[in-house]
Amino acid sequence: MSTVITNIGELVTNDPAAGGGLAVVRDAALVIEDGAVAWTGPSSSAPAADESFDAAGRAVLPGFVDSHAHLVFAGERAEEFAARMSGEKYAAGGIRTTVERTRAASDDELRANVRRLVHEMARQGVTTVECKSGYGLTVDQEARAVRIAAEYADEVTYLGAHVVPAEYAGDAAGYARLAATDMLAACAPHARWVDVFCEEGAFDADQAREVLTAGVKAGLSPRLHANQLTQGPAVRLAVELEAASADHCTFLGDADVDALASSRTVATLLPGVEFSTRQPYPDARRLLDAGATVALATDCNPGSCYSSSMAFCIAVAVRDMRMTPAEAVWSATAGGARALRRTDVGHLSPGARADVHVLDAPSHIHLAYRPGVPQTHAVWKHGRRVEGLL
Ligand code: NIG
Ligand code: FE
Repeated sequence: MSTVITNIGELVTNDPAAGGGLAVVRDAALVIEDGAVAWTGPSSSAPAADESFDAAGRAVLPGFVDSHAHLVFAGERAEEFAARMSGEKYAAGGIRTTVERTRAASDDELRANVRRLVHEMARQGVTTVECKSGYGLTVDQEARAVRIAAEYADEVTYLGAHVVPAEYAGDAAGYARLAATDMLAACAPHARWVDVFCEEGAFDADQAREVLTAGVKAGLSPRLHANQLTQGPAVRLAVELEAASADHCTFLGDADVDALASSRTVATLLPGVEFSTRQPYPDARRLLDAGATVALATDCNPGSCYSSSMAFCIAVAVRDMRMTPAEAVWSATAGGARALRRTDVGHLSPGARADVHVLDAPSHIHLAYRPGVPQTHAVWKHGRRVEGLL
């Protein structure tokens, strides 16, 4: 089964062979075959296929890669958000509210929530989703969370060390040991990644190192919630452990920027969190100018950012984080793929997974230029049309 998409006004390929950046082809066509991109080139020389889709001059992008989300939860925290907008500060402890609700939920309730949010994302052009555990915080509850995440998400992350649960109040070290031993053993078979919230009010660098190195021994790869609320040691720990990504990077010193720039660790920025917590936005320009690789992701979760919109992240990154539209779109697609160490997504070169996002706009710039406006016209994930968008 093959499909040719014709009359593409602007095809963003992110072709790695083109030397970086969006690698745009104008008046293009793209052929999907057996779930992969089979051909790209000028519309005038497009080969025939079983089916044809007329893009009518629209822009076509790789599907968004949302490399950071927390979708296995129950309930919501709208009151906490309203309080923040009236001056309350965001603190790690709010997570425990969601832990209580999540523990009390049935498997099917949690499944329905993850499915709802993954579909909400797909309707907005997200074709690769990372999903973390972290609202269970017992061996059985965390194991259940990674199992359910694995049913819907492309990438699963074990985040048993999200916050210290009430039962371990005052004993973060004891809980970190559990997260590095029995809990890890129960979760590792269902996950690819291990993550820790390394922050004041959550876990310190020694505890984070213990959980992450145990995770690596269990076959997982590290990533880290780093420097979200304070300029702590987490970014440098992520680089030391060769983590795929240091996420948040809101408060960075020169040593943090230098460490990221001279490593393979991607700086994943989550502007929706700063929006929803009234923190300063991370300085993407400083990271890019230093030579770091930057990804953009939503961090969709019921506390610090209840938005699944990558387009919103792009608009904020362009308006307030000094990224160009091209940089922001690259970071939301190819950047996310780098943060997940994936070479098959985030670009549309022949051989890539056919994750295709047709915008109802003539260029990628419209994602930032028309903030808040739904602009997803059609989506293919792994070569299959995601229906019911309009
Ligand atoms: O990435 N920082 C830690 N975890 C989430 C927030 C989770 C919550 O507030 O429920 C984050 O911001
Ligand atoms: Fe997060």
